[in-house]
Parts: sequence; structure tokens; C-alpha cells
Amino acid sequence: MFTKIYYSLFLILILILGCKKKDTDLHRIGFSQAMSDDKWRKSMNDDIKDAALLDPKIKLIYSDAENNIENQIQHIETFIRDSLDLIILSPIKTKALSPVVEKAISNNIPVIVIDRKTTFENYTSYIGADNIIVGELAAKLIIGKIKRTRIINYNKKIKSINILEITGQTGSSPADERSNGFRNTFERFERTKFGKKINLLNPISGDWNAKSIISPLKKIFNSGQNIDYIFVHNDRMAYAAWQIARSYENQNEITFIGVDALNSQDGGIDLVKRGVLEATILYPTGGKEAIMVANKILNNKSFKKNNFLETTVINSFNVNLIQSQINKIDQQNKKIKSQHLILAEQNENFDRQKTLIITIIMFSILVLFYSIYSFHLSRKIKKQNSDLKIKNIEIEEKNNKIKKVSDDLRTNLKSQYDFFMNISHEFKTPLSLILNLIESLKDRLKGNTESEISMLSKNSYKLYRLVTQLLDFRKIGSKIDEVKVSKTDVCNFLDKILEDFQYEMDRKKINFSFIKADKDCYAFFNHDFIDKVFYNLINNAIKFTPVNGNIAVNIKKLKSSINIKSEHILVSIHDDGIGIPENEIKNAFKPFFKGSNNKNISSGVGLYLAKQFLKLNQGSIHYNKNKNGIGSIFSVALETDKNKFKIKNIVEFQDKMISNTFNIIGHKYSEQSEELENNFSFISNDQLRILIIEDDIDLALYLKVQLKSFDVLISDGINCLDKAYDLIPDLIICDKNLPGNINGLKICEILKSDLRTSHIPIILLSADNKNESMLEGIKNGADIYFTKPFRFSVLNESINSLIDNRKKLKYYYTQNIENLNTKSFKKLEQTFFIKLNRIIDDNLSNSNFTVESLANSIGMSRVQLYRKVKSILDINISNYIIDYKLKKAEELLKISPDNVSQIAYTLGFNSPNYFSTVFKNKNHYTPLQYRKKFQKKYFEIN
Ligand code: FRU
Repeated sequence: MFTKIYYSLFLILILILGCKKKDTDLHRIGFSQAMSDDKWRKSMNDDIKDAALLDPKIKLIYSDAENNIENQIQHIETFIRDSLDLIILSPIKTKALSPVVEKAISNNIPVIVIDRKTTFENYTSYIGADNIIVGELAAKLIIGKIKRTRIINYNKKIKSINILEITGQTGSSPADERSNGFRNTFERFERTKFGKKINLLNPISGDWNAKSIISPLKKIFNSGQNIDYIFVHNDRMAYAAWQIARSYENQNEITFIGVDALNSQDGGIDLVKRGVLEATILYPTGGKEAIMVANKILNNKSFKKNNFLETTVINSFNVNLIQSQINKIDQQNKKIKSQHLILAEQNENFDRQKTLIITIIMFSILVLFYSIYSFHLSRKIKKQNSDLKIKNIEIEEKNNKIKKVSDDLRTNLKSQYDFFMNISHEFKTPLSLILNLIESLKDRLKGNTESEISMLSKNSYKLYRLVTQLLDFRKIGSKIDEVKVSKTDVCNFLDKILEDFQYEMDRKKINFSFIKADKDCYAFFNHDFIDKVFYNLINNAIKFTPVNGNIAVNIKKLKSSINIKSEHILVSIHDDGIGIPENEIKNAFKPFFKGSNNKNISSGVGLYLAKQFLKLNQGSIHYNKNKNGIGSIFSVALETDKNKFKIKNIVEFQDKMISNTFNIIGHKYSEQSEELENNFSFISNDQLRILIIEDDIDLALYLKVQLKSFDVLISDGINCLDKAYDLIPDLIICDKNLPGNINGLKICEILKSDLRTSHIPIILLSADNKNESMLEGIKNGADIYFTKPFRFSVLNESINSLIDNRKKLKYYYTQNIENLNTKSFKKLEQTFFIKLNRIIDDNLSNSNFTVESLANSIGMSRVQLYRKVKSILDINISNYIIDYKLKKAEELLKISPDNVSQIAYTLGFNSPNYFSTVFKNKNHYTPLQYRKKFQKKYFEIN
């Protein structure tokens, strides 16, 4: 809509701008001038042009025929063809122009004839002085003068008077009419007594121009003809005639009369004033009058067909008066003209300003419209924007919802995936045990297989429990009104469960308290479900509580609490564990939840199952941070009101199968505890030592049994680094996934970059068989990466080959001990020995320098240093020092000027004799013998 308005306005503007006066609004007047080479014509042109100029409605189109009749006809034709509104015609000749004038009239173009006439009488209007009167005035002037002369010379003899007429172009109306008027007047006069002696000579026919009369006039003068008066049809020719007469001595008395009376130099008035002419007959040009009549015609006003202009005689009596009047009129005309020009200019300015103002107004209107339109548009856009914003928000909200759903789905899927992965990993360890045990049983059919079989059965139970956990998931689908419950003493129930964890709590030296605030703590629940709930909660508490940590279980009967408004039994389990990060608490009971700070393998369903199981038993569970900010408090509420359950669901006894299972596992834990204790108390010095870092005690014990030929030490991951430093084992088998903050990869990295343990081969065990994980293991320094389940025979082979390699390396290192700077040694070993040698060098002459001080300087214990050097070079550290010193002694004996005793002291030997003895033991020469034999050679070579 606005676009249409915009274009309409633009169109109006264009129209207004185009509304300047057009040619079509003006009166177009064609003016055909006969000629313009004389002043009278120029005066006529000026009169017409000035008059036209004063009328803003008139547009004058001027053409000059240059005294050529063909030209003039052509000009009129053009005016007709251009359909001008009016033609002003100043004809050259009378006859030839009549047809074209007739044509113009028949084309409805009015024709004003000026000065000369046409023979065609049907012109629209004629303007000019009456030329017959002009001729008559001239004749009367001469007659008057003759009369006055006769009266004066009345008594004298009067000679005849000769009068010459010089005409304009014959055939042109002024010439013909002037002549007629002149001659007719004389004819009438001749009939009087004064006129008898007047002799009217044959006229000279001129063409209005001076030139045309020269030769015929001279001819007359030359003939000796006496002339008294000459009437010339215009002042121009009259002045020429006067000039010719003056050249003849006998022609000085001639009286000249001219026509036109122009007020200019050599014009009629000037000539009268100068006495050249006796008189001139005023012949007005009619220019102004022509425009006046044209205006009347064009504006449909009444006008006269023939307009005869006043004419008069100007002679010495009135010339000054007339001239001054003409001058005044001219001045006024000039004034009017200049004022008109100013006015015209102002009009033009006004027009321009008007146009400008209109343009500005139009543009302002346009701008206003545009602004309104823009405002309207911007409002529309704003509205659309706000609509869009709302839609965007809606879309964003929907997107967020979709994202949340998809995130939840993804998390769910990932959690499910992790869960099944973890569960399957969990399967792998017992599975590898079972496989290896079966293999072992096959090998030793006759052997004592009691312990292996009990382990087989225990791991079968473990698998059974894992499978049960999987199946527990299905139980969530149980219907609440089908769950069988029985009135149970919660304290007794918990006592039995806690018994199963006694061993584990002792092992981790956990400070455990069980506070029963009320003796009478009965609640209604299904034993199977609630057993799993407490088993899971207590198991978690122990798992996440560090060694020497605290766990407390409190039972009390409450009338109501923050979360529950009716009576219930509240069991709260407090621990010192890692807790659940604040921002994750809300998710704690969601399926597959695993705290971001929990590095253990976990299916993440325990808490979820606990909550669901409690729901099925009309109970609830809540989580709180422990008061000291460390660890967790899980509060379990159990229902005491039997009316909350259907009577049919309240039973006396329940199946004890699940709880029995736990007892079996619990019992096995106790067995393990003794074995584990034995394991740590027994350290032999001679056998090669293997440290197993594995939290799966069954697997660790199994390996210990299998690796009988070694001293096997077990760590469940707790303080495993300290154990490695203490024992400096010959080989380490380490599980990749361990509880707590440290895992197998980290252990590898730390031990391999520590001078004390860098030489120890490490076998990494993991359930993760992805290539990247293996690569990561190797990168972290593991010598071999084993994936579970593994065959023991292969593991055993690998252990033997690593030990073998170590032996080969020992030999190799021993041979290359002097080439520490080559690549013979591993980088850390190289650093170790360079450091070791530098410390020995620095203390070469120090007789108090012992293995202890060397170990201190290098940052190890004496045992660590001993085991490290023994492990790499298979020599005693004391022997290493002595060997090193003896090597130096060899050097000194060859190049030093010192005697043997001095060398012995230099090398820190308290007694030169002792030095000689050990030197001889190693080199088969005494130091002196050695010097004799090798010093000369040395100098010869060097
Ligand atoms: C000028 C003129 C005048 C004369 C008129 C007659 O061209 O010769 O001198 O009066 O024409 O048409």
C-alpha cells in the first residue's frame, strides 16, 4: 500500500516540476519581415519585439525575407505548417503574397498585414498609416510653399515650378498610394490660378534604397533640368537625392520632402533639423499596434479590420517639439522595458523558487511519508521480531527439552553401556580364575586340589551374585501389593549383615560403631529386598572409606522426621568416604549414576535399586553430606505400621537364600585374611621377588599359589607404592583398574620414573582389551600388557622371559659399566650410574665414605640401593664401590707419579696393604707389578 502512495507522490512531483510554462500555453506569433537592412525596418522590429516582450503570453517567431519574395512565401508556409496562432506579415510586394495569405486564413491562422498591403482583401487586419494621405500631405506642403512664394512675389514675373517625385518600389502599396495621393492633389491644385505654372516631372522609380535613385537623378541634373521641389517616398532616398543635388552648383535651391521621420542620426527628424529636408511625413512602423491587435484577436476580443495610424508633417516648426516627445516616449519605453526585464527576471526567479519550494515540499512530504512508512515498517518488523523472539524462545525451549531428552537418553544409553561393560569386566576376573584353575586341575589331577576347588566354588558364587544383581533389575517391576513383608527386628537384621563385613573393616582398620538408640526396633519389610539395600550401602561405605577411616550405623525409632511425618525406623549409615559432589546429589538415586569422583568400576545401579526396593516396602532413602563435609550419610526409613500393607502380604517367614550367599562370601573373606597376613609377613632374601598389585584378592592369591618359585608379595592397591619402594621387587604384576585414586597406569608411570624402581619390569593386567589402552599402558612404562581373561601358562612364560632378559641385561650392563655415556644403558639407569659414580668420585679419598653415605647422597635407603645395583648388575654395592676404586687405581698406577701408598690413600683405603690385597685379588698383580708391566706400555702408546 505504501509503495503505491510513494509512487503516486513521486508522479505528482514530476508533474509539478513539469508544470513550467510550455510553448503550447503561449500564443505563438510568426512575424515575417520583408527586409531589415534599413533603420525604419529595424525600428519596426524593435517595436514589435518590445511589445511582444511585455506580454508574457506571447512567443514571437521572427523571420527576415531579405527583400526576397520567395523567401517570404516560404516563411509563411512554415508558419502555417507549424500551426502558429497568428501571423504578422510585413509584405515585400502586394500581389505575389496574396495566395499564401489566403492559405493561412483558410487554415484558421489570423494574418495581420502591416505597412504594405496585399491584393487579397481577406486578411484579418491591416495596420499602417494611410499612404494616400502621406502623398497628399507632401503635395499640400509643396503647394502651400508655392502659394506663399507667389504671394510674396506677387508683382514679379513668375516662372514655372518643376516638381520631381522619387517613388518607392512600384507595385508596393506605399509607393503606389503615396504617388496617387501626391499626384491627385496636384491635379486638383492645377485647376487653380496658382497651379497653372506647376510642372510635375516624370517621377523616378526607386526601390526604397538610396542606390536605386543615383543614376536616374544624375541623369536629370545632367540634362540641365531645373528642379524646385523633390518629394521622395522615404527619408533615406531623400538624403541621397539631397547629396547628389549638392554636387551640382545650379541645384542648390531644391526643397526636399521625405517620408518616415525616424528619430535617429540621418533619420528624417535629424535631416529636418539639419535643413536637409524641408519636411518629413511621419510614417509610423505600426509594430506596437500590430501586437495590440494580435492580442485582441488571440483573446477573442473585438478589433478593427483596418487600423490607420496617425501621420503628420514634421518640419522646422514642430521638429523639436516632436523629437522631445518621441524621446520621452522612447525613454519611457526603455524604462518599461527594463522594468519588464527585471520583472521577467524576478518572475523567472519566482518560478525557480516556486519550483524549488514545491520540490522541497514534495520531498518533505515524501520524506514524511517515507518516515511514516519506515516507522510503520519498523513497528511491523519490531512486532515480527518480538513474535520471532517468542517463537525462538519456544523453539529454544523445545530444543532444550529435546536436547535434555536426548542427553538423558544418551546418558542412559551410555550408562547402560558402561553398566554392561563393567559387569562383563567383572565377569572376566572370576572367569579367568575359573579357566586357569580348571587348567591347573587338569595338569595335576592327582594333586591336593582342595583350595583350588574352594576357590572355584567361591568364584562361582561371585558370578552368581553378579548375575543376581543383573536379575535384581527385573525385580523393580514387582508390584507393590504383591511384595511379602514380615515384622522384623531391624537391629538383629543389621547385625547379621554387618557380620559379613567384619573382616573387610578389620583389614582397612576402620573405626566402626553401631549405635542402637531404641531396643524395640521393629519394622515391616521384605528381607530379600532390604538385605540388598543394606548390603549395598554398607559395602559402599567400606569401599569408599580410607584405611583408618570411620563408619557409623545408627538405629532409632522416630515419631516423625524432616522427610517422613509418621512413625518409622530410621537407619543411618555414616562414612568418611569420597561423598557425592554437591551438584550430583539430585541424581544419586537415578539409574546408572556414578559420581564423577568415583574411579572404581561400578555398575551405578546400587542406589537406584535401593530406592526402588525401599519404595516397594513403603520405605524411603535420603542422602546427606556428612556433618564434617567429608563422606556421606544415607538414611533409610522403614515402615512400622502394619496397616500400610495388605494382610495377605504380611508373612511370618521368608526365603533366606540370598542372605546365605552373603554368608558364604563373608566366610571366604576371613579365610583370605589369614593368607594375606601370611603373605606380608614372609619375605625371603634369596629368591626373586614379585609384587602383585591387585584388589581382587582371589586373583592375587591364585597367582601367589601358582608362582611358588618366587617370593610373591601382594598389595590390594592401598600403599602399593610404599611397598614397591620398601621391597624393590624384581618384577611387578599390577592390575590396571584399582580402587582409590591411583590406577595401574599411574603406578607404572611413577615407578618407572623413580631412580629406585625404574629398572623393575612391570606386567600390567587389565580387562580392557582396546588397542589404545594397551598402547597407553606401554607408553606409561609397562613392559607387558595382559588382558583378562588370561592363561596363567602364558603369564608365567612372560614372567620367566622378563627375568631372563633381566639376567642378560645384567651381564650386558656389567660389561658396559664404563660406557655409561653410550646408549648401552636405559636413560634412567644411565642417569643413576652417572650420579652414583660422581658421588663415589667426589668421595674417592674419603676413608669414612660408606654404602650408607652413598645411599643417602643418591636419595635411597641402603637396602634399596643394594637391591637396585644387585638387580641391574648382579653385584653387591660394596663390591661395586671397590671395583670402581680399583679401576681408578689402574689408571693412577699408569699415569700418576705417586707411589702405591699415596695412591691407596687417594682412593680412600685406610691401609696400603689392604689396597694391595684387593688389587691383587682382582688383577692377579700387585699394584707395583701392575705399574711395572703397564706403565711403560701406557707411555709408549700415549
Ligand atoms: C522601409 C521603407 C520605408 C517606407 C516603407 C514603405 O523599408 O522603404 O522607408 O516608408 O518602407 O513600405
